[in-house]
Formats: sequence, structure tokens, C-alpha cells
Amino acid sequence: MTAITIDGHQIEVLFSQDQIAERVDELAQDVAKFEPRRLLVVPILKGSFIFAADLLRAFHRAHLLPEVDFMMLASYREKTVSSGHVEVLRDIQTDVRGRDVLLIDDILESGRTLAYAKDLLVARGAARAMTAVLLDKPGKRAADINADFKGFDCPDKFVVGYGMDMAHAYRELPFVGYVANA
Ligand code: IMP
Ligand code: MG
Repeated sequence: MTAITIDGHQIEVLFSQDQIAERVDELAQDVAKFEPRRLLVVPILKGSFIFAADLLRAFHRAHLLPEVDFMMLASYREKTVSSGHVEVLRDIQTDVRGRDVLLIDDILESGRTLAYAKDLLVARGAARAMTAVLLDKPGKRAADINADFKGFDCPDKFVVGYGMDMAHAYRELPFVGYVANA
């Protein structure tokens, strides 16, 4: 496996820049097959911003015509698995009634974040609320949700890069990896 060293920390590459680029194009084709109507793309900040930026440009290549608005959510993990709750730090300003909405997130883990956002948009009258995630940690689910579109299954490691952070660091890495000597 490839590894790089940053500031004394060894980062093992899990998904390379090329692997991600190829998969992102495939995801855009998959979304296009659904023929979304009046598509609104909603990246969930912060972790999804690089994935969303690449996926949006792949949407252009797939001849989709999305609008974009942003939501920032914080999910609080508490001691029992079922008690986490989600807070809206920044809401979209777009009326979703009758529209197809695609929520984008970096990782689907417990599922609480995306389940909350999806329920919210459905309650506001979205025609369809779909979800796209770069990574899925299927063994960690607490909420009843699966991604409509997913890039890769992710091993049960804390991953960084391609928008994802560990204590605010590593978002700038062009690949997804994990810190081997944290
Ligand atoms: P959940 O599905 O509600 O548990 O939340 C998933 C969110 O937790 C993701 O959007 C990430 O922000 C964060 N997260 C989960 N696993 C990781 C990881 O391995 N690295 C970085 N962030 C993670
Ligand atoms: Mg996140």
C-alpha cells in the first residue's frame, strides 16, 4: 500500500486520486439515469465540499443541470448509540417543494446526519430526496438509511483527506487515507 509522510505522520492511501476520479464519473452517470427533475444538489458541510465540487463537475459532463445550495449540520455523539442528535448550523435558502433533491455527504456512518437531513427535506415537500456519499461504513449504522449512490465501502478506520479532517487537519489531501501512526 502507498503511504506518504506529512509532518511526521504516516498516511496510508486507501483510495487514490485516480480511483476517486473514475468512481465520481460513474456516480454522475448513475444519477443521470434517474433523470432527476429540477435537481437541487445539497452538499452537507463541511466534509463533503471537495467530493461535491468534483461530483458537480461530473454532472456537467453527464449533461445534468443542477442548482446548488448548502447545509451545515453538526451531529453530537453521546454515550449511548441511539441518543445522538443533529443540529442545523446553516440551512438551505431554496424552496424544495416539488423538486428532486440530492444530498451529498462524505461518509455514511451511523446514518443519523443523512437521515435527519432527508426527513427534513421530505417534510418540506421535496419530490424525491436522494443521497450520495463518497464512503459507506455499513457496519456502523444506527439509523435506518442507505445511500442511493455511494462511491466505496470504507474499512472501519478513521479516514482523512478529500475534504475529511482529523482535528481540522488533512482536508486538502487529494486522496482518502488514514493516519497509520496517530
Ligand atoms: P453519521 O453517519 O451521522 O454517523 O455521520 C457521518 C459523519 O461523521 C460524516 O459526515 C463525517 O463528518 C463524520 N465521520 C465519520 N467517520 C469519519 C471518518 O472516518 N473521518 C472523518 N469524518 C468522519
Ligand atoms: Mg460530515
